[in-house]
Amino acid sequence: MSVSSKELAAHKRIPLGMVIIRPAKLFDLPEISRIEVKSFREKYPRGIFMVFLENNPGTFLVAEYNGRVVGYVMAYLRPDLEGHIMSIAVDPEYRGNGIGKALMLEVMERLVKKGAQYIGLEVRVSNERAIKLYEGLGFRKVKRIIGYYADGEDAYYMMVPAREWGGIS
Ligand SMILES: CC(C)(COP(=O)(O)OP(=O)(O)OC[C@H]1O[C@@H](n2cnc3c(N)ncnc32)[C@H](O)[C@@H]1OP(=O)(O)O)[C@@H](O)C(=O)NCCC(=O)NCCS
Repeated sequence: MSVSSKELAAHKRIPLGMVIIRPAKLFDLPEISRIEVKSFREKYPRGIFMVFLENNPGTFLVAEYNGRVVGYVMAYLRPDLEGHIMSIAVDPEYRGNGIGKALMLEVMERLVKKGAQYIGLEVRVSNERAIKLYEGLGFRKVKRIIGYYADGEDAYYMMVPAREWGGIS
């Protein structure tokens, strides 16, 4: 059964226990694109989700609630053993329910299992909400990258060593 936007506006709080975190599948890509459009000023080039999924099937995850994709995270293991978070977004109607944190925890666990020594990411310096999420998971601001984004905004490179991060359990 699908949940309409109207229903969600009335019920913004959802039980996290009913959210399933699972690997993304090809049929999820339209929903993932829908969330990307609502979430970012700069979009990835068309087709990148499919290529990313082919190359990193275990670390491209979605959050599903009531049969609907409500968030995703894309990550991969770099040759230098950095587990890199490439993108994370939650449908605006479902934010603030712990879904972003749940996606991060699951993908970090999977990256460490694959051999990541640390987890890294870039985030807009103005993105306080995301920075809070990452700091809550142990990430620290390591450096500021001037003009990282196409519109000229700077990024923080944030990082957490695997040994400092206890994992889910
Ligand atoms: C960043 C984002 C993924 C967080 O997803 P979410 O599901 O709303 O996050 P959660 O509910 O799991 O919250 C996790 C933490 O984020 C922080 N947070 C969440 N909502 C917040 C708000 N309104 N204001 C400030 N901090 C907030 C809190 O630290 C929270 O931890 P806490 O609940 O233990 O206090 C989501 O806001 C989003 O999709 N943003 C647009 C895309 C984006 O900016 N992605 C990151 C690019 S680097």
